[in-house]
Amino acid sequence: MAFTIAIDGPAAAGKGTISKAIAAHFGFAHLDTGLLYRATGRRVLLGDDPVDAAYSLSAFDLTGEGLRTPEVAQAASKVAADPQVRAALVDFQKGFARRDGGAVLDGRDIGTVICPDAEVKLFVTASDVIRAERRYLELSAKNMDVTREQVLADVRARDARDASRDAAPMVAAHDAVLLDTSEMSIEEAVAKAIAVIKQAQ
Ligand code: C5P
Repeated sequence: MAFTIAIDGPAAAGKGTISKAIAAHFGFAHLDTGLLYRATGRRVLLGDDPVDAAYSLSAFDLTGEGLRTPEVAQAASKVAADPQVRAALVDFQKGFARRDGGAVLDGRDIGTVICPDAEVKLFVTASDVIRAERRYLELSAKNMDVTREQVLADVRARDARDASRDAAPMVAAHDAVLLDTSEMSIEEAVAKAIAVIKQAQ
């Protein structure tokens, strides 16, 4: 039976951690849809055409630490504003969302465009300063050469581009449950999300 959990929100709000924990808790499959845009963005940085890249993503494109760099994040956000790139990636995401056994998808447009009929929709957010601090700690732990100021500026630029684009902008679905994780531990945020899902089951 299909059961879709759509998790949207801005960069570094905790969507990925919450999605993985929920998928493990309920035994659902998980798709980090940001990876599709990051993989496309990385191919563009290597010289490919964005639409061709989006139509020809391979399993190889979706692997590797190289997808988590700030450069690739910005490239992802740029290609994600192209409606043709988005169109190339829609069918795969829709199919994944309705697979048997339940699915958790996290991204920017899951509850609004990819799966407007999702059984549960969460919009996970946190203040931009807190999100930037989390991302800074994550990147520094991987020995990436970044400053707090750079990471905050990157997060703000990506938020603004993702929220203001015409094609599937980042916005909470009208029926999404808002989860502000600014003052929450990971455990608290996951527990809240699980409680919301249990109510819908
Ligand atoms: O979630 P993540 O930070 O990996 O996403 C990278 C970029 O991909 C985002 O900034 C956004 O522009 C784009 N994206 C999107 N729609 C999604 C997931 C990601 O536009 N469903």
